[in-house]
Amino acid sequence: MIRILGAEDAAAYQALRLFGLRESPEAFGSTYESEADTPLEHVGERLARGAAGKDVTFGAFDDDGGHLVGVAGLRRQTGLKTRHRAHVWGMYVAPQARGRGLGRALLDALAAHARALDCVERLTLGVETSNAPARALYHAFGFVTYGIEPQAYAFGGRYWDSELMSLALDARSPR
Ligand SMILES: CC(C)(COP(=O)(O)OP(=O)(O)OC[C@H]1O[C@@H](n2cnc3c(N)ncnc32)[C@H](O)[C@@H]1OP(=O)(O)O)[C@@H](O)C(=O)NCCC(=O)NCCS
Repeated sequence: MIRILGAEDAAAYQALRLFGLRESPEAFGSTYESEADTPLEHVGERLARGAAGKDVTFGAFDDDGGHLVGVAGLRRQTGLKTRHRAHVWGMYVAPQARGRGLGRALLDALAAHARALDCVERLTLGVETSNAPARALYHAFGFVTYGIEPQAYAFGGRYWDSELMSLALDARSPR
């Protein structure tokens, strides 16, 4: 089951987010260190604000116990000349739930939500260039690579390049 997360999901969301930041640190622009101490209250407020506005977070729940096992965010741009774009961020599926279509289902939910917003025409995202599973997921969904940002992230003496992708919502290839 996929649905928009709200304040009541703060604890489950934060647990999965922090687990993901440690399990796949190179997959995120953020770090465990910078989010570990975020009060649950703030997380809940952000989720609630997002559910009602331009920065929505979706969750995927497993069929067994209804546990949160996947998350992905969609942040609509706000500028007059950029509000036709929405950025996909924070995509994460827990290791035990991978390979079952949840990543694709989360993207489906984000794309459907974006289409329902007034005037949103494109989704954008950045993915670390050696992240083969995520790159394959996005390409299979119809995202097109338009560039590489060198050394987009730097942490702990290492650099990561970011592959920049874009999807025209009306050109999304059918499954
Ligand atoms: C990337 C990620 C979200 C994929 O989630 P998932 O639920 O396993 O993906 P799905 O089962 O929906 O796969 C959909 C498609 O993606 C591609 N894909 C997913 N995992 C893949 C893998 N390990 N190898 C190759 N292709 C893969 C395939 O095209 C797949 O379609 P198919 O099953 O018909 O072959 C998950 O591996 C993950 O959370 N990784 C760690 C965090 C991360 O990298 N996030 C992305 C940051 S940009």
